[in-house]
Amino acid sequence: MKRFLILGVILAGTATLFFGCERSAKRVGPKGPPNPEADRLAQPKSLQQVGAPAELTREAIPPDNPQTPEKISLGQKFFFERRLSADGTVSCSTCHNPDLAFTDRKPTSVGIKGRIGQRNAPTILNAMYNKTQFWDGRAQTLEEQAGFPIVNPSEMGNPSLDTAVAQIASVEEYQQAFQRVFGRLPNGPDLLRAIASYERTQLSFDSPFDHFIAGDTNAIDASAKRGWELFNTQARCNKCHALTETRRDVTLFTDNDFHNIGIGIIRHNVVALAGQAEKVINSTDAAAIDRAAIQHDMSVLGRFLITKQEKDTASFKTPDIRNVLVTGPYFHDGSQETLWDVIDHYNKGDGLHNPWLDEDMQPLALTEPDIDDLVAFLASLTSATYKEQGTAELARQRALSRTNRPQRDTARAFGPKPVPPEPPK
Ligand code: HEC
Ligand code: HEC
Repeated sequence: MKRFLILGVILAGTATLFFGCERSAKRVGPKGPPNPEADRLAQPKSLQQVGAPAELTREAIPPDNPQTPEKISLGQKFFFERRLSADGTVSCSTCHNPDLAFTDRKPTSVGIKGRIGQRNAPTILNAMYNKTQFWDGRAQTLEEQAGFPIVNPSEMGNPSLDTAVAQIASVEEYQQAFQRVFGRLPNGPDLLRAIASYERTQLSFDSPFDHFIAGDTNAIDASAKRGWELFNTQARCNKCHALTETRRDVTLFTDNDFHNIGIGIIRHNVVALAGQAEKVINSTDAAAIDRAAIQHDMSVLGRFLITKQEKDTASFKTPDIRNVLVTGPYFHDGSQETLWDVIDHYNKGDGLHNPWLDEDMQPLALTEPDIDDLVAFLASLTSATYKEQGTAELARQRALSRTNRPQRDTARAFGPKPVPPEPPK
């Protein structure tokens, strides 16, 4: 008995090393009025979740930024630290709120001084597994990513990362924490390391779908099961939302690639914007690309802003679709309100006036019951932590979809694949 106990203690200690523990996490945060940081949804998550990929999770931790409980807890403080913004009003959690599955549930995000950006805030749940960060993949790592919103004028608005560091460097608690965790004075790179290590504790699996895959055949209903079949067959979702087209992907539902699926393209003169981008955006100037993506109409150019290759025009990263029910509105511009709208978009194959449309986009001939089944499958990807929110949100979306289907176009959905127009010269 005693031996088991000791083993248990050692195991718990190891888990803590990787992911922090609830107790140390709860102690962080300033005293005073309740803030989201104290919320249970903000705490580092357990590795023991049904469906969590142990191997991938280990690989997602870079050797030069190992997880320690103190670093994670410091990163958690910074994630909720409004003093990291120019006017002390905005933190990472303003747009990535744990109560809202680490999003803001707005079409596009709002930063300091009410400045509205061009893009929808993705969840940071499972962002640790992304091969690239941002809708256009302009950052490689979570460390690199975290530096951009701090200095973007429409987000946290600091003139430089060092200015942000200066705002927290005078706080004695932080000085001590930097010394303890990094053995140095407060500085930008370590600030970003701490934030990234907190984000790497936000894995989110344990959904009804994960239980189904683990062998509990009753964990999802018949409709969701039909939806999962459609996802991998007639609906063609697996062409992009799977690691390979030959094996079903039950883990992250993304090919880590970029595609033009026709979002936002009709509202903009893409050719003119591409011409403008070629003139004013230097592909090696990461800050300029970030400003264009967040603040300018050139945002619609997507991956093109980084590669300047015509094939990447208005193409965006295939997102992981776990927890998608509770992270709407949808797409890089937050233009679609419900999952029914998303599937209506795919069903008609888009295509109109879009020479760069991905060849895997085509009319799908999905019936109304098929669409309901696909939504049921997507809803089954909601982690247990967001179960109640998911139930309420599904009811809301279903009610809305009964009266409002702006993307529905049955004639096109059941029509032939249109011939795409030639790219403009
Ligand atoms: C004003 C709102 C806002 C603030 C503040 C903000 N973000 Fe974001 N975040 C966004 C938006 C919008 C995007 C998508 C932008 C894009 O793709 O061009 C994003 C993207 C991300 C991504 C990429 C996720 C993915 O799936 O590609 C991560 C990670 C992230 N933010 C973390 C952070 C961290 C860490 C902070 C604080 C240092 C922060 N964000 C501050 C709005 C915000
Ligand atoms: C050709 C590749 C491709 C195919 C096929 C595809 N997707 Fe996507 N999916 C993407 C890309 C790329 C995005 C992001 C596009 C954007 O925002 O501009 C996306 C976004 C989404 C989103 C929004 C996620 C969010 O967080 O906003 C959902 C939901 C989704 N896809 C579900 C599906 C379903 C269901 C199918 C099958 C009916 C499907 N996708 C087929 C590539 C694809």
